[in-house]
Amino acid sequence: MLNLQSESPARWLQQVDTNLEEVLIDHAHCEHKAAATAMSLMGSYIDNLNLCQEMTRIVDEELEHFHRVLDLLARRGIAFRRLPPGHYGRRLRALVSPHEPQRAVDRLLVAGLIEARSCERFRLLADHVCDAELAEFYRSLFESEARHHTTYVRLAKHFADESTVRQRLRELALAEAAIIAEGHPLPRMHS
Ligand SMILES: [Fe+2]
Ligand SMILES: [Fe+2]
Repeated sequence: MLNLQSESPARWLQQVDTNLEEVLIDHAHCEHKAAATAMSLMGSYIDNLNLCQEMTRIVDEELEHFHRVLDLLARRGIAFRRLPPGHYGRRLRALVSPHEPQRAVDRLLVAGLIEARSCERFRLLADHVCDAELAEFYRSLFESEARHHTTYVRLAKHFADESTVRQRLRELALAEAAIIAEGHPLPRMHS
């Protein structure tokens, strides 16, 4: 789905089941990082009006998601805290070209793939968790993450032609699928 080249493995759902609190805390961090990524893209490409308009919307939505996860943690008596990161974000960022305009294409497509993976995992979690409040919460998030994916892929076409973007998206999605297949011992949204 959404240009991803793999489905999440069953192993990940087992990691969530045994470490739900930590995954919820990591989810809050993910929403904060999604807002920070959109803010950073806006700063880098501030002369692209359409990109800025879209980034302001995404920053607003991701901060609202962040706020909602923090509320959920508070209702459950789970203290929000710093967590050592998994390797997903770092490994994806390493794929980004240092040279413009390829760098812009890569940053937007990597952001889009993270949105796609989040969306896929929210959908999986919505069907998997027994907790009705949590299932509804995940269900309420995946639509906006799917929309963010589409926005990032569309914006990448401001910096390269359509077929170049399609080809690069496929390359990056294959690399993303390989990182997901490796897995990570820390229980995280993207381990
Ligand atoms: Fe979000
Ligand atoms: Fe998002």
